[in-house]
Amino acid sequence: MAIKRLTTKLGILLTIIGLSVNVLAAGGEETLSANIKSEDKISLQNGATTYMNYCLACHSLKHMRYDKLVDGPGIPADIVENNLMFTGKRITDHITNNLPADAAKEWFGIVPPDLTLVARVRGADWLYTYMKSFYADDKRPFGVNNTLFKDVGMPHILAPLQGKQVKTNKAKELESKIEVADIEIAIARRDGDDAGVTKHSAIFHEATGALAQLKHDKGYFEISIAGSLTEEEYNTVVRDLVNFLDYAGEPVKLERQALGMKVILFLMFFFVLTYFLKKEYWRDIH
Ligand code: HEC
Repeated sequence: MAIKRLTTKLGILLTIIGLSVNVLAAGGEETLSANIKSEDKISLQNGATTYMNYCLACHSLKHMRYDKLVDGPGIPADIVENNLMFTGKRITDHITNNLPADAAKEWFGIVPPDLTLVARVRGADWLYTYMKSFYADDKRPFGVNNTLFKDVGMPHILAPLQGKQVKTNKAKELESKIEVADIEIAIARRDGDDAGVTKHSAIFHEATGALAQLKHDKGYFEISIAGSLTEEEYNTVVRDLVNFLDYAGEPVKLERQALGMKVILFLMFFFVLTYFLKKEYWRDIH
C-alpha cells in the first residue's frame, strides 16, 4: 500500500518535471532537427573543409589543435598540412585566425566569436537552423537578417551555395497581420473595449496558428535567386558543418560514448555477481 502511494507521488512529481521542461523548451523560435551522425567520418571531413574555407577567416577554433582533424575525422596529416592549414605553422598549433579585432568591430559591430564551444552552448539543432534561417532584409547592413538570431551582425557567408532566401508573400502577410492584431489588442485594452480585445485576439491566434502551419509546411521561405546547390545539397553541407562543430566542442565524444557502454556492461555484470554473493552470505542467517 505504502509503495503504491509512493509510486503515485513519484509519478506526479515526474509529470510536473516533464511538463516544466516542455514549457521551458517551448520558449523561443522552433529549431529544425540537425540529425548529425558523430561517427560519420566523411561528414566530419566535409564539415572541416567547409569550415576552413568559409568560416575560419572570421571565427577561430582556438581551443582546438590542427592535429584533432587527424584524430577524429581521420583526415591524413599531410592533407591537413597542405590543404586545410590556412593559419599556424605546425600541426600541433591551435586553430586561430588573423582577424584584427578593431577592424572586425568596425565592419560587423562586434568581433565574431570563437566557435570551438558553440555547439555545446547552442546545440546542434540550433546551429543547423541558424545556417538555414538567413533571409534578405534591405534594412540590415549586409542585406540579410536571420529569423533565429534577430538583427545578426554576420553576413550570409554561404549565400553563394544556398542562393538568395526570402520570406514568402504569405509569410509576410501573416506576420504583418499578427503585428497589427497585437497593436489593436493593446489599444482595445487601453480603451476598456472587451469586444475589441476578443475580436483582435481571435485574429491574432488564427494568424499565429497559420504561421506555425506555414513554417511546418516549408512555405515560410523560398529561394528567389538560385545558388550553386540544390536545397538537399545545401542541407547536407550545413549538416556536415554542424557535425564538425559538434566534434570541435567535444573531440572525445566518440571515445566517451564507447567507454560509457563498456562501463554499463561491466556494472550489469558486477550486479549479477554481487547478487549471488549476497545470497551466499545470507543463506546461513535465514
Ligand atoms: C565575414 C565574417 C564572418 C564569417 C566568414 C562567418 N561569420 Fe559567423 N559571425 C560573424 C559575426 C560578426 C557574428 C556575430 C553576430 C552577432 O552577434 O550579431 C557571427 C556569429 C556567428 C554565430 C553565432 C554565435 C553565437 O552563439 O552568438 C555562429 C554560430 C556563426 N557565426 C557561424 C558561422 C559559420 C558556421 C560560418 C562559416 C560557414 C561563419 N559563421 C562565417 C561573422 C562571420
